[in-house]
Amino acid sequence: MATKHMNAAPGDFAATVLMPGDPLRAKYIADTYLDDARRVTDVRNMWGFTGEYKGQPVSVMAHGMGIPSVSIYCTELITEYDVRRVIRVGSCGTSHPDVQLRDVIIAMGACTDSNCNRMRFGGYDLAALASYDLVEKAVNVARRQKVRHHVGNIFSADLFYTPDPGMFETMARFNVYGLEMEAAGMFPIAAENGAEALAICTVSDDLRTGDHLSADERATTFDEMILVALETAVAND
Ligand code: HPA
Repeated sequence: MATKHMNAAPGDFAATVLMPGDPLRAKYIADTYLDDARRVTDVRNMWGFTGEYKGQPVSVMAHGMGIPSVSIYCTELITEYDVRRVIRVGSCGTSHPDVQLRDVIIAMGACTDSNCNRMRFGGYDLAALASYDLVEKAVNVARRQKVRHHVGNIFSADLFYTPDPGMFETMARFNVYGLEMEAAGMFPIAAENGAEALAICTVSDDLRTGDHLSADERATTFDEMILVALETAVAND
């Protein structure tokens, strides 16, 4: 069985899937951290892999950029491949005074300027929430690994090149820690289908100063976050 956007066979995906935006990151995670990893889907080069981490089956599947793309892959993973937990691992910008480059944000919820959740939720505003169980596990891991982190709200924007940068200050005032482009699309898909979702992001851009991580710094901080996500995936606490 293939879905409209994936050519994996039934049973090819583990119950837990880590999701970076970039297919090359998905390959890197599979090559670096999973045992016996094999590629299970390659449609549009949006690669997915399945292997084992510490003896437990884990998959990693790229989701592309933005809510429309992540919505396609999350929907098909959950409704057609019976995936139970999706964990986004990405980067984000920040305008929050307490948040620094390289910090990790564990999202409890995600605001958005997208209309996607009103379309699903009868025209009302849905609070797009992460799974509490996954948030708790990720926070425990981040504490144990002494990773500098923040737990709270993020904002998933439809436009990277926003016409309204004044909104960054409003986000900081409302205690929104990070700005990215996918979580508010993922969380409700999991909720509607009895699955769980989480988003963990490293801060790569300071939206107030224009500072950003170099490619090397991105790679190191990415590794720190991947380990938080993988340990969350196999945690029993
Ligand atoms: N905006 C939106 N998404 C992002 C950013 C940003 O500044 N940085 C990393 N992902």
